[in-house]
Amino acid sequence: MKQFNIQTLGCQMNERDSETISGMLTEMGYQSTESKKDADIAIINTCSVRENADKRFFGMLGQLKRYKNENPDFIACVCGCMMQQQHIVDEVKKKYPWVDIIFGTHNIHNFPTLLKNVIEQKTAQIEILEDYDTVVEGLPSKRLYEHKAFVNITFGCNNFCTYCIVPFTRGREKSRKADDVVKEITRLVKDGVKEVTLLGQNVNSYRDGEITFAALLKMINEIDGLKRIKFMTSHPKDLSDDVIEAYRVCDKLCSYIHLPVQSGSDAVLKKMNRKYTREHYMSIIEKIKAVREDIAISTDIIVGFPGETEEDFEDTLKVVEDACYDSAFTFIYSVRKGTPAEKYADQISEDVKHERFNRLVELVNDCSYKNNEKYLGKTLEVLVEGYSKNDKEYLMGRSGQNKLVNFKGDASLIGELVKVKIIDFNTFALQGEI
Ligand code: SAH
Ligand code: SF4
Ligand code: F3S
Repeated sequence: MKQFNIQTLGCQMNERDSETISGMLTEMGYQSTESKKDADIAIINTCSVRENADKRFFGMLGQLKRYKNENPDFIACVCGCMMQQQHIVDEVKKKYPWVDIIFGTHNIHNFPTLLKNVIEQKTAQIEILEDYDTVVEGLPSKRLYEHKAFVNITFGCNNFCTYCIVPFTRGREKSRKADDVVKEITRLVKDGVKEVTLLGQNVNSYRDGEITFAALLKMINEIDGLKRIKFMTSHPKDLSDDVIEAYRVCDKLCSYIHLPVQSGSDAVLKKMNRKYTREHYMSIIEKIKAVREDIAISTDIIVGFPGETEEDFEDTLKVVEDACYDSAFTFIYSVRKGTPAEKYADQISEDVKHERFNRLVELVNDCSYKNNEKYLGKTLEVLVEGYSKNDKEYLMGRSGQNKLVNFKGDASLIGELVKVKIIDFNTFALQGEI
């Protein structure tokens, strides 16, 4: 049997796209392998959100050259967000002319045709579309996890935050039909899935006719056999009161929200084109906490955005303290070609960015530690995902608050929801016993 290997960089959107690519290759009779060396086809699904993602891709691509040299029938494919940028496609074509297939984020469904063309015609295939009109439904999928699943609800982004490449790589925002989403989740549940994470760059702007994101949540909450609903990402500017109300009425909606703040300074938020103030952001957090006392909150923060002063940065530290995040993904601002912020004159020096970044991470870790301490002695419901990475005697899973929980137990519990009493903790995880 011919084998394929996929390496995925970037966010859950890309992970989900890789599941589709795996699904299509499986239908074509290929088998997935972890080993690049043994693969007949290698695919790199790229991310372009920060410069280090670009760099990782070029490192991986360099590696593939060896396999290509050893086996002339080896097929090298690259796809994903980087390929939506002409300057990158040009660079790949020039420096890596042995790459067989280049395709973008809007034509994944066409990958089997491109592959057939390469095999039959032995000529490189390049297909990039700038955007597309309608969402293609019904593609196969080979899922990464057995008991939890990612489900796209929106694609693309219309927000054009001034630092961000995503609107350029993922096109304009499109919502799937609510009916298609519900059907997909119903099928997943029949297949053993207990938890779904609804995906979109900004799930709050989901719309199918009269159906808003809050209405969609209520529809999904009715699906028999489904146990948990999570979603990401929420843009604070569009998080309306009816979504907060959904936290009150939807029992399957987990007590967890990822609410990227990016900066605590109103001046920086304005320059980022985020369209909310720090005060508005904090008011949302308060409202959610009033409906769900046990809510866990995570965020994304960028340090060193052009023009960020020490005072601006201190405002960010203040938000972290006030919101007391359970976890935060912290990023050093990275210039992205073609975005408005690339042209801003007041770029921050690398030294200052790193110094602020270290201070931020320290505070974020303090907050995570304090939050985790609160769980000592409490009992959480955990969806068991598998064995713990470090110790095979332990199982690991996630609570509704998205907390990583390790505990002793046997393999029969994998895929089950179990009650675990928390007996120890650190900054990044909880430890418990059944
Ligand atoms: N749609 C999501 C985020 C998608 S990108 C949202 O709006 O929240 C994930 C995160 O990467 C962003 O939240 C941001 O914090 C970070 N990011 C995006 N562009 C970046 C850049 N140029 N430099 C550093 N971090 C960036
Ligand atoms: Fe990027 Fe902003 Fe869109 Fe998120 S909302 S993907 S940060 S442009
Ligand atoms: Fe990266 Fe594209 Fe996601 S740029 S973060 S893989 S949408």
